[in-house]
Amino acid sequence: MIDTRIIGIISGKGGVGKTTLTFNLGTALTDLGKSVIVIDGNLTTPNLGIHAGIPLYPTSLHDVLKGKVDIYEVMHVLPSGLKIIPASINLNDLKGVNPELLSTHLIELIGKLDFVLIDGAPGLGKEALSVLKASNEVIGITTPELPALTDLLKSVRLVEERKKEYTGSVINMLRNKKYEPRKDQIETFLEGIKIIGTIPHDEQVKYALSKRMPVVHHKPNSKASIKIKSIAANLIGEEFKIPWYKKIFKI
Ligand SMILES: Nc1ncnc2c1ncn2[C@@H]1O[C@H](COP(=O)(O)OP(=O)(O)O)[C@@H](O)[C@H]1O
Ligand SMILES: [Mg+2]
Repeated sequence: MIDTRIIGIISGKGGVGKTTLTFNLGTALTDLGKSVIVIDGNLTTPNLGIHAGIPLYPTSLHDVLKGKVDIYEVMHVLPSGLKIIPASINLNDLKGVNPELLSTHLIELIGKLDFVLIDGAPGLGKEALSVLKASNEVIGITTPELPALTDLLKSVRLVEERKKEYTGSVINMLRNKKYEPRKDQIETFLEGIKIIGTIPHDEQVKYALSKRMPVVHHKPNSKASIKIKSIAANLIGEEFKIPWYKKIFKI
């Protein structure tokens, strides 16, 4: 039986890159030969399905949580091989959904995949907590700004309270500007919580989204892609080698 790692991707503050990281990390891990499913745990404002370009779908995670359909019925397989469970973007589907049931339904996936990545909801409310409950590991993501860092710190405290393993933090959308705190300052602010990766602000991420593609496929050698692929490799204990032409030509 496969040892399934269920990782919640959380933030505290919204708009910092949870969905982007979930989708791209999932794709990069699939490329590394792992069986991976990404799940939209952001039930009120879901957008993982939009990032992945899934056409209109009649049933979704919302129907699973309502006990109407089986989790396998709402699973899609993307051309990359990455599996995905989207949540409904229809407001009416929210009625009668209990996010806390997510963990119960995920039990069915244990032993069948290497990774279950859950795209978390922002904040510290019921939805965000249900993602923590369903996960056995957590990755936090933040931008290098004080409000986002403060909110991440609060979320990490909740992870600790729930005795879940905190794999580490990802600092996203770094712009290398003077007004930005340095990595060591961020580390101090996060009270020594481990940073497992940094991702620069990269317009290719936006181009990829407009094409409904993961940036790691749209532009595999873009700055953001290289960093995301390196986080994925580290997660499975492999060393990521930067392509030689990237080092020479600095592209
Ligand atoms: N490294 C990056 N460089 C540039 N834009 C990014 C990067 N990461 C995320 N974005 C953009 O930021 C916005 C918010 O990202 P998203 O993943 O939806 O955040 P969240 O899920 O936390 O709300 C999106 O428009 C996305 O394309
Ligand atoms: Mg999101």
